[in-house]
Amino acid sequence: MKRKDTQGLTRAEAFELSEDIPSNPSTAPTIGDVIASRFGRRDILKGALAVTAISAVSSLMAGTSKQALASKASFSFPEIKHGVDETHHVAEGYDADVLIRWGDPIFADAPEFDPMKQSAAAQLKQFGYNNDYVGFVGLPYGSDNPDHGLLCVNHEYTSEEVMFPGLGRQDKDAEFAGMTQELIDIEMAAHGGSVIEIKKGTDGKWGLVKDSQYNRRITASTTEMTVSGPAAGHARLKTTADSSGTKVIGTINNCAGGMTPWGTYLMAEENFHGYFNGAVAEGHKEAANHERYGVPGGWYAWGSYEDRFDVSKEPNEPNRFGWVVEVDPFDASSTPVKRTALGRFKHEGAEPIVNKDGRVVVYCGDDQRFDYLYKFVSAGTFNAEDRAANMNLLDEGTLYVAKFEEGGMNWLALTHGEGPLTAANGFADQGDVLIETRRAADLLGATPMDRPEDVEPNAKTNKVYVMCTNNSKRKEEQVNVANPRPANTFGHIIELSPPDGDHASESYAWDILVKCGDPSVAEVGAQWNPATSENGWFGSPDNCAVDHMGRLWISTDQGSNWSKSGTADGIWAMETEGELRGTGKMFFRVPVGAEMCGPRFAPDDKSLFLAVQHPATDGTKDYPGFEKNSTFEEPATRWPDFKEGVPPRPSVVVVTKQDGGVIGV
Ligand code: FEO
Ligand code: CA
Ligand code: CA
Repeated sequence: MKRKDTQGLTRAEAFELSEDIPSNPSTAPTIGDVIASRFGRRDILKGALAVTAISAVSSLMAGTSKQALASKASFSFPEIKHGVDETHHVAEGYDADVLIRWGDPIFADAPEFDPMKQSAAAQLKQFGYNNDYVGFVGLPYGSDNPDHGLLCVNHEYTSEEVMFPGLGRQDKDAEFAGMTQELIDIEMAAHGGSVIEIKKGTDGKWGLVKDSQYNRRITASTTEMTVSGPAAGHARLKTTADSSGTKVIGTINNCAGGMTPWGTYLMAEENFHGYFNGAVAEGHKEAANHERYGVPGGWYAWGSYEDRFDVSKEPNEPNRFGWVVEVDPFDASSTPVKRTALGRFKHEGAEPIVNKDGRVVVYCGDDQRFDYLYKFVSAGTFNAEDRAANMNLLDEGTLYVAKFEEGGMNWLALTHGEGPLTAANGFADQGDVLIETRRAADLLGATPMDRPEDVEPNAKTNKVYVMCTNNSKRKEEQVNVANPRPANTFGHIIELSPPDGDHASESYAWDILVKCGDPSVAEVGAQWNPATSENGWFGSPDNCAVDHMGRLWISTDQGSNWSKSGTADGIWAMETEGELRGTGKMFFRVPVGAEMCGPRFAPDDKSLFLAVQHPATDGTKDYPGFEKNSTFEEPATRWPDFKEGVPPRPSVVVVTKQDGGVIGV
């Protein structure tokens, strides 16, 4: 979510915060500086890594190692270059084709996209806005078919300034001036998710199956959902429209997500606070709860038109968002379920893995500065032979929050009645613990993180990768072992190592894989393997994917910082093993003002699905050549149509290798 960041800042305010980013120093660093800046002191003290770092540098310096190191690389594509322009770029030898765009009809009877004739009715039958998470599951169920399947895509939010003609919202004082019921209905219909059937043709190109029985739109306004798990039916979930506390209309700000081993689609509700207006009176029983989550954020005008988004009228409605929603994509008439056992926070994603004892573990980040890293461990076990037996696995289990120490980390159970999670502290039951997950985690002493986004287990190695995207507000006195950089503008990646690959263990080992940013600028304090090329570094890791060979791929979201770094967001391949561990390599780049979401590999690793989110909107006014704020009439790019009168359109892109081979090999 980048219209405003997770602290409720406007884009301009967020940009101001990045003013302290150093520019390139004119003096060339010595080799000692390079080692010191790329590997923190803590890591240099660790024998193995120090040897790796120094030997890699030494051999590079000797000019003999490039070929030798290249032979050890997991990735063999030709790297692309940092930069910014109006279109996307992919490594030579690959095609990156637009598969589906905002507004494309996904039903046989849907109207074609016409930016001048938008309506909620049309949008309900068209692909939604701002595609973020992308999941893939082969057809039929259980087949692992790499050429035909269901794509499950989140539509995180809407960017009115470039989607509606004549409505500019860059002037903060006039923020909602142009909004109408009609436009709000379109916005709500453009949120949520899409399930679409896609198939590879004989020409090797993917296409949409428009008359598929599976195609569906899930929205903020029309999709009825049930609530399950320990908080279902809780008094704090009841509203005027729902006296049961078990039925919610819609889902909002669905950022990343996950696919379960039983072929369901998890949609994570992230910045739900931004959709609420109004306020409860001081001293109201929900006041402190709302404050901890930033409610009301006031990002949209919805509360002026729909009472449930006005907190003064419906103080419990915000408690019905911030959950993980489970959808069965194989049944377009199925009712999505909000799984409260996974906690309520600004869920970035929800990535499951089957533990060696059969229990299902779901890793989740709470994407806000100084918030926490979580995992859920199911009580029951996955049954590969009986899909129906798995459908409520996410209702019972234990939610844990992470606490990092030097040399190890512990998972602390968020269980009612244990430790401080009692009635004396306002937790009458497990429902209260889950509704106020953040406050419960505060009391347990969890480690405040630098905006943990995607958390991805690697099924090949059983390591887990945590994307900490950035935290420019961390002060020197607020650093901790897992978040060691003050004013962390570029983020870092943490690697967790469960003992013997046991994801249910309450103690793991961990390490920092990389500290992001430009390693040629010593003040940035980046930490990369010195073998990383001048295009191999990146900032603000956000989403990631592990391919079926166990290799890590990272996508970035620099927000407005890209206009300082001078490079667009994109996809980088990331070495995690051997001598090249900690080396990035640039594979794909988005058009100006976009961020990179997805990514998802098909089961044969021959197709890579990428989501290009909010083209033309982020940080354009500060970059030479794109100085204007983007509007519908004058967007910074008209990607991907490049037709006058057609606005930029968030789109899913599919990357394939021209020789039909495995990506990155
Ligand atoms: Fe929606 Fe945390 O990115
Ligand atoms: Ca993001
Ligand atoms: Ca994200």
